[in-house]
Amino acid sequence: MNVMVQAAVKAGRSLSRDFGEVQNLQVSMKGPGDYVSAADKKAEQIIHAELAKARPGYSFLMEESGAVAGDDPQHRWIVDPLDGTTNFLHGIPIFSISIALERQGQLVAGVVYNPAMDELYTAERGGGAFLNDRRLRVAARKNLSDAVIGTGVPHLGRGHHGNFLIELRNVMGEVSGIRRMGSAALDLAYVAAGRMDGFWEHGLQPWDVAAGIILIREAGGFATDDKGGQGIFESGSIVAGNEPIHKALLKTMRKPIK
Ligand code: IPD
Ligand code: CA
Ligand code: CA
Repeated sequence: MNVMVQAAVKAGRSLSRDFGEVQNLQVSMKGPGDYVSAADKKAEQIIHAELAKARPGYSFLMEESGAVAGDDPQHRWIVDPLDGTTNFLHGIPIFSISIALERQGQLVAGVVYNPAMDELYTAERGGGAFLNDRRLRVAARKNLSDAVIGTGVPHLGRGHHGNFLIELRNVMGEVSGIRRMGSAALDLAYVAAGRMDGFWEHGLQPWDVAAGIILIREAGGFATDDKGGQGIFESGSIVAGNEPIHKALLKTMRKPIK
């Protein structure tokens, strides 16, 4: 955990510096696009270097550099150095760093760090989930009618827009609010913290969700694929919440249109 936190905080400092510059570049004609992709890669290099130094041999799955097999195939770091790139690019301070550790294919630890708010979410298997030093628990609300639900809205070139509109139509009529924050890792951390009652999204990659899944489970919540099964990485779909909200969300999303 110390190793993961150190890597996340160090990369967070780098991202925060670059975020300041993005705000300046915002007004230039060319925009901050290239600058942001350099910031993203720099953050990944920092995380890679820190983790590889502390645990030589562990394997990696990183968004920018892909899979790197180590001598130790039992352990794998799953890393998104900048989740919420579109926000970052637009100067919106909602982005995060996500690092998870798998042992023999099981998630055993996760860290999500939001450097702009200095919020550090951590979880270890069997040890609970924390926001900075505070123990986390998913929200206790039982009814969708009281719930704030996060999601990811597909956009140009991404996702099945028709399917999403059906799900949104089904869910929006039953809940007290819908949010689209733009960082899936942070969305899941917010569910773990009880800030949002549930979340669903499709088309995600393992690095978007790995740390968030263990945060939610260690905070007493549920995270499954959109069929209620364990294939989140394989399907790219995730549905999360406390037990009743998770169940209600799964059911409501799938309601056929009359
Ligand atoms: C994205 C964010 C966003 C989600 C997208 C992801 P990125 O990750 O998590 O919230 O809706 O599907 O790709 O590209 O910013 O690392
Ligand atoms: Ca991501
Ligand atoms: Ca990313």
